[in-house]
Amino acid sequence: MRHSTLRQLEVFSTIARLGSFTRAAEELFLTQPTVSMQIKKLTDAVGLPLFEQIGKKMYLTDAGRELQQTCDGIFEHFSRFEMAIADMKGLKKGTLKLAVVTTAKYFAPRLLGPFCQAHSGVDVSLKVSNRERVLERLAGNQDDLYILGQPPEDIDAMAEPFLENLLVVLAPASHPLAKDRNIPLSRLAKEPFLVREPGSGTRAAVERLFASKKIIPKVRMELGSNEAIKQAIVGGLGISVLSRHTLSLDAPLGHIAILDVENFPIRRHWYVAYPRGKKLSVIAQAFLEYLKQAPKLTPM
Ligand code: PGA
Repeated sequence: MRHSTLRQLEVFSTIARLGSFTRAAEELFLTQPTVSMQIKKLTDAVGLPLFEQIGKKMYLTDAGRELQQTCDGIFEHFSRFEMAIADMKGLKKGTLKLAVVTTAKYFAPRLLGPFCQAHSGVDVSLKVSNRERVLERLAGNQDDLYILGQPPEDIDAMAEPFLENLLVVLAPASHPLAKDRNIPLSRLAKEPFLVREPGSGTRAAVERLFASKKIIPKVRMELGSNEAIKQAIVGGLGISVLSRHTLSLDAPLGHIAILDVENFPIRRHWYVAYPRGKKLSVIAQAFLEYLKQAPKLTPM
């Protein structure tokens, strides 16, 4: 085992956490053959199989479970070590690990700009995934801070609102409802609706509003990103509800209208969260304070 590398252990514990070689390869930005090779070497070193595949699912063997516990211990010690060193260096050097939901990618980098300028030795690693994935990362204590559209419900975490998030109804600019005012919510049920993928926080918020008014939208298509939805709106495939932040910078300006619908905008906030009891590094603490006073970004 002494010849096994930390990288192999990282690959192993990522597969153990995600239950899939493919997803682990994606998350670690490795190719699948590389991932398989690392696991093969590790398995040879252990001398027992670490995973077994039953049907499509991957399970840990007893040896795999033992190794997973050992890895958790090793990585926790390591991150405490890294944090101690970063704290010794103060704000001069270190990494800020952030995981943000897909919709936050429209403003998170803009918020990071001034912070990184003020602390030039700080590197930032920014993971962008949908709400479900970000919550998995939070539960696994993989990053310093998390930005999401609603505080975590099933995980014991601290969460503070720092920025308003308005969800609006978007339609092609040429849509017949584009000039109407105070459109009844029930009217939307007649329009083909474009929704985000399951696991998206935006989708969950929209479903909650419709369910509370007992309205069933006519879902025409499910799309895995805000960008794809905006393009589909422009392409005339339907209407949708997205955060106003998705309209900043690269929106196909002039092609999309915000409809004036009753009960809209859905008023939400962006939250910055971290597991309760987590000892934040000096850098993470500074970023948290910065977020709370950050200039209020207005969606364009
Ligand atoms: P999403 O999350 O990007 O997963 O839709 C946004 C939100 O929670 O508001």
